[in-house]
Amino acid sequence: MATDATPPKQSLPLVVECEESKEDVTLPTLTEWRQAAAGMPQRPPSPSADRADWIPREYALMSQDELDQRIRAAKAQLGDRLVILGHHYQRDDIIQYADARGDSFKLAQFAATRRQADYIVFCGVHFMAESADILSAPHQCVILPNPTAGCSLADMANIAEVEKLWGVLDERYRDETAAGSLQSVIPVTYINSAANLKAFCGRNGGAVCTSSNAAQVMQWAFARGKRVLFFPDEHLGRNTALKLGIPEERLVVWNQREEGGGIEDAQALLDAKVILWKGWCSVHLRFTVEQITAARERFPGVRVVVHPECRHEVVAAADLSGSTEYIIKAVQESPAGAVWAIGTEVHLVRRLAQEHPDKTIFCLDPIACPCPWMYRIHPAYLAWTLDELVKGHVVNEVTVDDETAKWARIALERMLATKGA
Ligand code: 13P
Ligand code: SF4
Repeated sequence: MATDATPPKQSLPLVVECEESKEDVTLPTLTEWRQAAAGMPQRPPSPSADRADWIPREYALMSQDELDQRIRAAKAQLGDRLVILGHHYQRDDIIQYADARGDSFKLAQFAATRRQADYIVFCGVHFMAESADILSAPHQCVILPNPTAGCSLADMANIAEVEKLWGVLDERYRDETAAGSLQSVIPVTYINSAANLKAFCGRNGGAVCTSSNAAQVMQWAFARGKRVLFFPDEHLGRNTALKLGIPEERLVVWNQREEGGGIEDAQALLDAKVILWKGWCSVHLRFTVEQITAARERFPGVRVVVHPECRHEVVAAADLSGSTEYIIKAVQESPAGAVWAIGTEVHLVRRLAQEHPDKTIFCLDPIACPCPWMYRIHPAYLAWTLDELVKGHVVNEVTVDDETAKWARIALERMLATKGA
């Protein structure tokens, strides 16, 4: 609450958010279209295209009030058998039902330690639910209300491409491996990746990291290897390496879409300290240095904090950078009257603005759009999956096969042993 001592809250002229989609119209229409399309020829699958987006039409037509009543009733009926996890980028009308909210590190920790619930309903994206399945106990069942809530960054690396690069590196470093005591290269995958890529890291002496412990995991890797192969986010990899003092000229980008990774200089892979995969988050690439300049002109004294998935020039121009949990902490710990321009997903930014009415908080991007993948978790999907659980049916369960899970768990446990910030 604002107090008398609190300066009046300024209007937020930098925020001109895009209009929310008219889901009351699109959800039923999509449901109809899917039914009609079921008999039509299918397109070749993309990494996440085999995951079906379907809900019964009655749920697509339900009013917000009815969905709310159903979700609350199902939660009450399932009691301690159910836990709902919500990532910070989820919309408010999902977050309101979450028993725990967090960034990807905190939610992975939660899944690894809370053994009492039979059902973990993960309101986030697919790779997070997979990690929860790997880390949770065998009796626990992980559910992603809409299985097509993927992540375009995670989809930018697949196992065939990564193994192809690994083969190239193996050949390039073969002589060196025989001579040295450290491994030539340690694979580190951002948690935003498929389970089989996490398993690849586990099998090859590597680890998973999140945006909250990427620097610590990279240091862990350098204690074991001469180089780090970091995928799939080029920007998090670069920001982390530069933060650790590795010069830009020792970073090399492997472009999986080009022959030979687009690397012409044969020496480059030998000289590299970090090999970066050419992947990016389309949400975080919206943030620019020009937006930071505009925010500073408009609000002298503004503090700028951005997520490390942003380009390095944006991270360098900001006052602070860190994971979503780090951003929340920075805002929480700032004094009343503080002004924040934030470079991360708009639902989190809006929520922070609502929860801190004594501070001025706005999204750095004046035309901020939400993460389209996180946004796929709509209350209609949540209501349907919970109603089915009440009836004893599990729908939209996320499972990882035992062999993949065994190796991915090793890489994830290395991540959990390295504290998040
Ligand atoms: P966090 O690790 O900060 O939760 O970020 C996850 C993510 O998807 C960022 O885009
Ligand atoms: Fe993926 Fe970016 Fe969305 Fe995070 S914000 S889930 S990295 S697309």
